[in-house]
Amino acid sequence: MKIIDGKATAAEIKSEIAKEVAEMIDIGKDVPHLAAILIGNDPASQTYVSGKEKSCKEVGFISSLYKFPADISEKELIKVVDFINKDDEINGLIVQLPLPDHINVNKIIESIDPSKDVDGFHPLNVGKMVLNLPTYLPATPYGILQLFERYNIETVGKNCVVLGRSNIVGTPISILMSRKAYPGNCTVTVCHSKTKNLEKICRSADILIAAIGTPGFVTADMVKKDAVVIDVGIHRVKSTVTKSGYKLVGDVKFDEVSKKCSYITPVPGGVGPMTIVSLLRNTLKAAKKEVYK
Ligand code: GUN
Repeated sequence: MKIIDGKATAAEIKSEIAKEVAEMIDIGKDVPHLAAILIGNDPASQTYVSGKEKSCKEVGFISSLYKFPADISEKELIKVVDFINKDDEINGLIVQLPLPDHINVNKIIESIDPSKDVDGFHPLNVGKMVLNLPTYLPATPYGILQLFERYNIETVGKNCVVLGRSNIVGTPISILMSRKAYPGNCTVTVCHSKTKNLEKICRSADILIAAIGTPGFVTADMVKKDAVVIDVGIHRVKSTVTKSGYKLVGDVKFDEVSKKCSYITPVPGGVGPMTIVSLLRNTLKAAKKEVYK
């Protein structure tokens, strides 16, 4: 069994991006600039956004944070998005999700200029992804693809089972894994809360991608011998062994599944660090006008 080291791979990619930024500066180009909008006080969102800001600094990007209280109106938020859309110095914009219930998330996503939508959430960019046209791929699925690539994991003709159908992970990764491309060319099955015989379907997977949002959902008896297991879950659960009283776990029972599979991503240090790196890559593409000219 091999551990897919997302932390090391992300560090490698970050240094490649930093090199590209230095070259851009050398030839007088502007430094890439990512803006993030953060609404309310959700601790997880705050952690994610500060991680994104820290990574921007590490590779030499400019990052701007626009923070607003949870009671900001939808109209006000759209005004902020519009203001950033019009700012020529900002290349990429993300609105950290989830948003408070009184705000229509689809309306906000649709208000983002598609050329700055480095999350790849705008319907236009989702459509381009489905059609295999150049676009910004959503960060978590893009991170997973980069892991397959860097570890030279064969995907053609494999049975890929995706657990979960969210807009952010399950749905886009299922589309990407079935595309006529590498990584891709898989026969993909998407499982969700209404799936019958889920365990049996999981056992047919050569590649199992768990993005179901339940800690320890995938057990060893659900995994075929020598399968590739990608764990997208990240949950803070109580622990009696750590000093803090908490530990991070994924959607997969790592200790038992790791004994059976060929490759596995750990939590933390697997898919998580790759997500941020993908966002940086998309921001670099935006600054270089590689997707929208
Ligand atoms: N919330 C959880 N994942 C993401 C993400 O990839 N982008 C944004 N904007 N919000 C998120």
